[in-house]
Amino acid sequence: MLLRPPGVYRPQSDTSLLADALTRTLGRSGAPAGTRLLELGTGTGAVALAAARAGCEVVAVDVSAQAVLTARMNALVRGLPVRVLRGDLFAPVADEVFDVIVANPPYVAGDTDPARVRGRSRAWEAGPGGRVLLDRICARAPRHLTPSGTLLVVHSALNGVAATLVSLRAAGLRASVVARHREPFGPVMRRRAAGLAARGLLGPGQRHEELVVVRADRITGHRGEQDEEGDARERQPA
Ligand SMILES: C[S@@+](CC[C@H](N)C(=O)[O-])C[C@H]1O[C@@H](n2cnc3c(N)ncnc32)[C@H](O)[C@@H]1O
Repeated sequence: MLLRPPGVYRPQSDTSLLADALTRTLGRSGAPAGTRLLELGTGTGAVALAAARAGCEVVAVDVSAQAVLTARMNALVRGLPVRVLRGDLFAPVADEVFDVIVANPPYVAGDTDPARVRGRSRAWEAGPGGRVLLDRICARAPRHLTPSGTLLVVHSALNGVAATLVSLRAAGLRASVVARHREPFGPVMRRRAAGLAARGLLGPGQRHEELVVVRADRITGHRGEQDEEGDARERQPA
């Protein structure tokens, strides 16, 4: 059982979809020695722990101090060597590269700028279209991948699968969907469904969504485009 205080995201089907995709990516015999893995937005550390069990050297990042403490505790009681750092996406690992990057970022569309959100809703609030964190990850990941590195990112198809694929390809990665799972809305989406439908972001009466895992592989020699705005956004939390 994972330690999970109330303010930290409870592992759900997006967590397990990502963890399963990671297991398949690493293969039956696990990670080759020295495989470096980064998890962005680790929460309880569930995916980071699975990666460490598979033999990866894991760095896990979360913006929430409570999540960082929780993931550290969960790793400690299992005797798994996971380095857990607090910060905004890639900021705590600014100069580091990884063989694998995994992320289950906030992806629920809402009116609030995720940078202004505090408390437990920081786990799901993702701004208009639900792509604020996703787009930052897609743009920045190539800089942090080794030449044969792989990114796995999970989100709802409501955020736009094509947008993720286009964004990753524009950043110089080869990208495709490697897992899908249809499920009923959780409590946050149930509360927002009427409002999202009124704005044309959901079909009338829609109460299900499809989760997808997108895999993107670095194309050797291409480190992606990086704009100045992207650099400025890589910051430590206040
Ligand atoms: C959907 S939860 C996923 C948690 C965990 N990886 C899982 O799959 O169960 C998203 C996580 O991202 C964290 N997060 C939100 N914004 C972040 C940011 N800018 N940088 C790092 N972590 C962030 C939240 O605190 C939360 O723990």
